[in-house]
This record gives sequence, C-alpha cells and structure tokens, in this order.
Amino acid sequence: MSDRRVDRLTSLLRRRGVVLPSFELYGGVSGLVDYGPVGARIRRKVMDSWIDHWTSHGDIVEVDSPAITPESVLVASGHVGEFNDLMVECGGCTGAFRVDHLIEDSHENKNSLSPEELVAILSTGIECPTCKESKWSDVRTMDLMFSTQIGAMKGGRKAYMRPETAQGMFMLYPALFRHFKQKLPFGAIQTGKGYRNEISPRQGMIRLREFNMAELEYFIDPEDPPCPSLNTWSDSIALVPDPDGEHSGECLITISEALSAGIVRHPTVAWFLARTMDFLINVGIDSTRIRFRQHASTEMAHYADDCWDCELHGEHGWVECVGIANRTCHDLLSHERHSGSKQLKAWRQFEEPRSEIRDVLVPNGASLGPAFKGRAGKVIEALQNLTEIPEKMPFELTLTDGSSVQITDEMATRRSEEVTLHGEWFTPHVIEPAFGIDRIIWHILDHSYTETEKEGEKYSIMRLSSNVSPYDVAVLPLFDKDGMGEIASDILSRVNSMPGLRGEMDSSKSIGRRYARVDEIGVPWAITVDHETLKDGSVTVRRRDDQKQIRVMVDDVLLNLGTGTVSTLF
Ligand code: ATP
Ligand code: GLY
Repeated sequence: MSDRRVDRLTSLLRRRGVVLPSFELYGGVSGLVDYGPVGARIRRKVMDSWIDHWTSHGDIVEVDSPAITPESVLVASGHVGEFNDLMVECGGCTGAFRVDHLIEDSHENKNSLSPEELVAILSTGIECPTCKESKWSDVRTMDLMFSTQIGAMKGGRKAYMRPETAQGMFMLYPALFRHFKQKLPFGAIQTGKGYRNEISPRQGMIRLREFNMAELEYFIDPEDPPCPSLNTWSDSIALVPDPDGEHSGECLITISEALSAGIVRHPTVAWFLARTMDFLINVGIDSTRIRFRQHASTEMAHYADDCWDCELHGEHGWVECVGIANRTCHDLLSHERHSGSKQLKAWRQFEEPRSEIRDVLVPNGASLGPAFKGRAGKVIEALQNLTEIPEKMPFELTLTDGSSVQITDEMATRRSEEVTLHGEWFTPHVIEPAFGIDRIIWHILDHSYTETEKEGEKYSIMRLSSNVSPYDVAVLPLFDKDGMGEIASDILSRVNSMPGLRGEMDSSKSIGRRYARVDEIGVPWAITVDHETLKDGSVTVRRRDDQKQIRVMVDDVLLNLGTGTVSTLF
C-alpha cells in the first residue's frame, strides 16, 4: 500500500467506480476522466445542489446552449487571440510544459508575472520535472481552444469547443431580458462541459481538458448595483487581498467588514463571495480550508476588472476552484460592436425627466426622395434614430436592414434642440461566479476521506455530506436465502419510491466487507436484513460515521429516512 494519502485516495476512487482515467483500454488520455457509477451520482448531486442554490430566489434561471461555438463569437469575446498559455519543450525528454507551472516554486505569485518575467526566471536553471535537464526550447504561445468545423468543404465554418459556458449566456441576453420583463438585475446559470487543450494536464481532476463547469452571469445596472444585506453572514472568512493594493496580507474578516473596509470593492461581488461560501459548506467542503484570493491587476483575465479566486486546500495545496469576476460590460459591448445587434442593452428610467441640448440631423425630404426613392422612408427613420451625430458630412448611415447609404450635406440639416429624456439605454455589467465542478468534487472527496486503524489495517471512510452521498442508504440482506433477499428488495423499492432518495443493495461477500465498501463510497446509513427481520420486521441500522448499530422496526427507519431524521433514532 502506498505511503502517500493522495495515492490511497486516488486508488479508492478508481476501485469503487468514483473517478477513473478515460479510455484506459487504449492506454488512456491525460486530462480526460470518467465518472463511474458511484462518481456520476456524486457529480449529479453536486450539480443539482448548485442549481438549487442559485435558482431558489427567483432572480436567476437556468439555460442551456451549445458547446460548439462559431469563431465569430469567440473573436468578439476576446478568446481568439487572448486565450493562450506560454509553453516550452524540454530539450532532454521533449515533454511540453506551461512556463508558469515550471516556475511555481520560484515565485510567490506566478500569475502576476509578465511573459518576459516568466522567461527570465525559466532561464535561471529551472529543471525539467520529468528528466531534470534544464535545456529549454524557445517559449511559444499555445492556443488553449479546441478548434473544429461546422459543416464541410467550402460551406464549412470555423468553430471552437467552448472554453467557458459564459458566452452562451451572453448570446441569450435578449431572451433573458424579455423573460425578466426588461428589469435588471437578473441572472442566468448554465452547467455543462468546458474544453481547454491544457498543455500539461496533471493532478488528476484538477487540470482536465474536458471539464464540468457551472457558471452564473448576473446582469446589473452599474449605477445601481444590488447590495443585499450581508448581516446574516457573521462568520469570518479568509481573504488574501491583491498584493499590490492597499490592503495586502491575508486576513480573517466578515464579508460585510471586508466590504466596508474596501477590501472587496463591489457590493454584488461581496454577496457572491458569501453565497459561494454557503454552497461549498453545504456540499461538504471544510470551511477552514476555504480562502478567497484577489487577483493582482496583472493576473486578471482579459475581460475582468476585479476578480477573486475561491481556493480550496487539500492534497494539491491551495487550488482555485471558483473565479468570481466583475466582467463589467466587456462581453455585451463587444458582441454589440461585432454583431451590430441593438438588443444587448437595458433601459434605465430617470427618477426625474432630464432636459438636454442635443445635436440632431433633420432629414431633407426634397433631396432624400429623389436620391433613395422607395428606400427614402428607411433612410429618414435611421437619421431620426441616430444616437450619435457624426461630426462631418458625408458619412455612412446604417439602415435597419443592415445595408448602408451615404448621406451628403444637402440631405440633412444639423440643428441643436432641447430634448426631454425620461431614461436611457445602457450596457449592463456582469458579475460572474464561475465554478469548476470537478475541482470541487475532488476537494469534497479529499476533505471527506478519513483513515482509521481496524485490526491492524487502514480502514477508510468517506464522510460525505448526505447532500452529495451517492446513495442515501445501503440495504444489505445478511444472507440471500430464507426470504431475506426478497425483503431487502422490497425495502429498496420503498426507498427508491420516496422523492429524492436512492438506495443501493449489496448482497455479495461477508457483511463486514459490505460495510467496508459502503463506508468507502460514503453511504451514510446501512439497513441490514437478518433472521430477526423474518420474525418481527426489525432491522439493524448502522451509522457510517461511528459505525454504531441499533435495532429498529423497518417502517420507523423508512419514515425517518424520508424526513432526513434517521440520526434521531440513535
Ligand atoms: P487555472 O489558472 O487553474 O488554469 P483559470 O483561472 O484558467 O484556472 P477560469 O478560467 O477562471 O480558470 O475557470 C473557471 C473555473 O473552471 C476555475 O475556477 C476552475 O475551477 C475550473 N477550471 C479551469 N480550468 C480547468 C481545467 N483545466 N480542469 C478543471 N477545471 C478547470
Ligand atoms: N467564465 C470564466 C472563465 O472561464 O474563466
């Protein structure tokens, strides 16, 4: 048996069908994993808890959009061109590595370094982690997106597998705006796969090439950002502010104090930090191993203005599992510019009407009619709807059908007019919590995995929260004879017919081996059917966490399972 806890945990996850390397029959592919029968249930429960967590207030809805994304969308978002990592090849073993990973131990915050600084550190004699050589190729930029093609031959269109689910939600903004009756704030969530062709996937579930994302885009008016009360979050949380800012140094502080002190700069971001903390604790993350780290300005993604990583501590040190970013109006504005859509705005009603002197262009029908004939009406409409009056004539005017015409001096007269404004159109800002579900599941497993000694051997128990345990109960017939198997099957069907509950039956090998198996996959309760059951309908109920057993009538235990109160029987 390995003397490293992380190896024993990884081997348990494989053995018990939780998480396994993909395509192993063909040698496996690094950066791709399968969730087996047990893991897929854990993943489903984590996803469902996440969806419930965000949709329970009514201001956030779930959507679902394609993973295949046309190139134009990712050009506008900035991913084409910006979404890349620096890589080098080892002259000894030809392995490819991310430069920032190689220098991880040589700098406190590798994410804040510029490409030139990374290369300078690499040339100080950093060794290859595989072959220990320190001969490196020139540094190259590698695009992280998987490219593909929609359709074939000349009609084909370049596309990518989405590197984040977020863009799908920006595409749906007009539908969301209608759904929420044109009133901010509102949000959309999406869960699904994200794809990144990581240079050197490693650490099991931490750096994958296809991974489970769960993202929330919350659309707000930047002049009236939601500031929900933070008073209910009275526990202190660990914050690591931007090292270049005025509040450097890790602190333990309540979220509302952090907002008042200006450590967290945005009230809506503060609220999402608190709600992220709630979610993580609810799915079984150890609250003492959660911290939020603010990005330095040099570390920020191309679209972000402020960003906090929620990091969890475990076998791989501190790992970013959630990124909470203020994406400002970057995406909607950029999609508006690239697509020409006029539907990516929201309306802000003024409390009092405002008057403003504005330049307008008054159309000259006598000149526009002969020049544009049947299209003259459209030209006049477009002139009247102009929000920005060009400084010089002639200029190109875009019509509502997408075509454009040239407007010359005699076609319109510039005039200043006083106008009364009741409101204005603006581009909403977006606060985005982006969760990496695989990294969270890894830490749930890591924080739940406990080892004790039993008869001189290591005994493993996965103390999963009942919110994410793969089964709610294991039903174990002591022997598969004298009708015990039938009674156990009947109990299992009664469990499975209760809303939200799932049981598992195991009748293979000794009862001790079966208890050990259910402990390893984190089932909180076991019901054992034995000879006594045949006589009086009582069963043994066993609690995973202390292995205590009691004798209860089967109807009582099922009643308590349904209400989540089995522990009151002990
Ligand atoms: P890293 O710096 O670790 O590459 P990132 O900053 O690129 O991560 P984001 O772009 O903010 O990550 O992605 C949002 C979330 O998605 C992350 O917080 C993380 O939990 C998850 N994630 C990102 N890349 C991967 C990956 N390759 N495998 C698994 N999860 C990932
Ligand atoms: N949507 C956040 C990210 O992928 O980085």
